[in-house]
Amino acid sequence: MIIAANLKTNLTRSATHRYIQEINSCVQKSSQEVIVFPAISSLDSFSAAVTVGTQNAYPVQSGAFTGEIGLQHLEEFGIKTILIGHSERRHILGESQEFIARKFHYFKKQGFKIIYCVGEPLAVRESSKEEMLTYLYKQYEGIDTSYENLIIAYEPVWAIGTGKIPTLENIKDIHAELKKKSSAPLLYGGSVKVNNVKDILEVKNVDGVLVGSAALYAEHFCSMIQAADELEK
Ligand code: PGA
Repeated sequence: MIIAANLKTNLTRSATHRYIQEINSCVQKSSQEVIVFPAISSLDSFSAAVTVGTQNAYPVQSGAFTGEIGLQHLEEFGIKTILIGHSERRHILGESQEFIARKFHYFKKQGFKIIYCVGEPLAVRESSKEEMLTYLYKQYEGIDTSYENLIIAYEPVWAIGTGKIPTLENIKDIHAELKKKSSAPLLYGGSVKVNNVKDILEVKNVDGVLVGSAALYAEHFCSMIQAADELEK
């Protein structure tokens, strides 16, 4: 399974080093694929069993894009994994589907592993299932769903950072629908915690989790990695 931590705008550079060190020992004992996305200023070359990815980058080698980083900044640290389409970048930073697709193609061309996020806001969730799927499928526009280094994360916007999660039955239903669009590994994200991770990982077509706030403590994130290991025993 794939167990990923999105540290968002948290943990300084030194705290991230400590964090990676702390989780390294549990990652070494685990058979899970573990990915951590630190804040941009905390990216570095880490000698650890964990894969480090970037939460964002501009689709360019280098250039005049104030406040952004490009491919050369990732190459400096050997980073080959990127998160694209996260709801906070879509809804807070205003990234359009067209721009997201452009970013996707740029990093696909570079052979990056792409964790591509899709998810619906509450108003869409409260409409019909058909409308909800139409909304989600729009987020697949311009995306190569058969890319071999693709991982998709289904993250309902209303479940991110809120402590609310869909029912397990619901996750099962949506994941079954999304698997029809792409056979790439499909993660669930949105208020995954130590106490619900096992139940979520047991749902059919859930190939892993993308965890935000509950992953900020290395100890908690390690418990989630261990929970995945226990399920595979
Ligand atoms: P959360 O965030 O676990 O804090 O809900 C998940 C995410 O945004 O990837």
